[in-house]
Amino acid sequence: MPDTLTLPRLDDLHVHLRQDALAAQVAPLTWTGGAGRVLVMPNLRPALTTVEAVLAYRAALQAIEPRLDYLMSICLHPGLDRSAVRAAAAAGIRVLKWYPHGVTTNSSLTGSLSECAEACAAAQDEGLIVSLHGEAPDDPAQGIDRMNAEQAFLPQLVALHQRFPRLRIIFEHATSAAAISTLADLGPTVAATITPHHLLLTADDWQTDPHSYCKPVAKTAADRAALQAVVASGDPRYFLGSDSAPHPAAAKAGNQPAAGIFTAPILAPLLADIFDTLGCLDQLPAFATTRGAAFYDLPPAQGRISLQRRPSRIPAQINGLIPLRAGHDLKWTLGACKE
Ligand code: DOR
Ligand code: ZN
Repeated sequence: MPDTLTLPRLDDLHVHLRQDALAAQVAPLTWTGGAGRVLVMPNLRPALTTVEAVLAYRAALQAIEPRLDYLMSICLHPGLDRSAVRAAAAAGIRVLKWYPHGVTTNSSLTGSLSECAEACAAAQDEGLIVSLHGEAPDDPAQGIDRMNAEQAFLPQLVALHQRFPRLRIIFEHATSAAAISTLADLGPTVAATITPHHLLLTADDWQTDPHSYCKPVAKTAADRAALQAVVASGDPRYFLGSDSAPHPAAAKAGNQPAAGIFTAPILAPLLADIFDTLGCLDQLPAFATTRGAAFYDLPPAQGRISLQRRPSRIPAQINGLIPLRAGHDLKWTLGACKE
């Protein structure tokens, strides 16, 4: 077992960097946590629905933290027509991100996936990726709640893939055994991201700890085991998207904490700890650097980070933001980073 691990800077293909003062804290912490290239989510307030807004956001992020390489996404909604998708592609935007109405932070746009068919067809032609937050909205009458909302969404994933077989689709933050088995039957144009926290947590965690609460929620031990098995297997269609999603401490307090888990500042040592515990440390470089790049068609990740097998303490808070497992120890330490 190696005691040192040297990797390219991580490709974290799903992050929430926030805006304004919060982004000024979060973007530098994302770099120090070991990421080099990030796919930035568009669920700001207001949501990023125009190419101009996405480019202005990227410029703001570059001014805050110029060392990160920002890959951008735009909200997929029924108003996005073919010419807007072409303009997005021409501007270098990589991903159209779809959120079901109201399921998570700032997901206030409305519009079913089938109402976004024109944009999906254009994305298929332009080589853009459609990225899905795959949850059906809560519906007590249909028996849909947080624990089965992902499973209830899966027929929509299958239908989208069947309608647009050449469209690259990413099923973001897969959390369930049902999702893994559905993906196994789909073609190579469909991939999925997996977060570190869904490899670690179950529903027991978020029921008692708001800093372990996110959407989609962590599910049963059997679901977690399915995620662990697929990352250990080396399946090329699964790669890192941390879904690091910080909220101010006040938003995480109270009866209805905001959904989102903050892992960006500890990402590399957290992943090393998890993969080491699972006995698949050898899979970490492919999971966190090469597979995502291959699916996105990106050049190899740049830079170098070095991890040592020696304990590091997760801070209790960082500038008032509370990371996952605050105050606990990880088995790995992120060493001095090279550019
Ligand atoms: O838990 C989550 N938090 N899930 C999401 O999909 C969005 C994110 C956020 O932006 O806070
Ligand atoms: Zn997210």
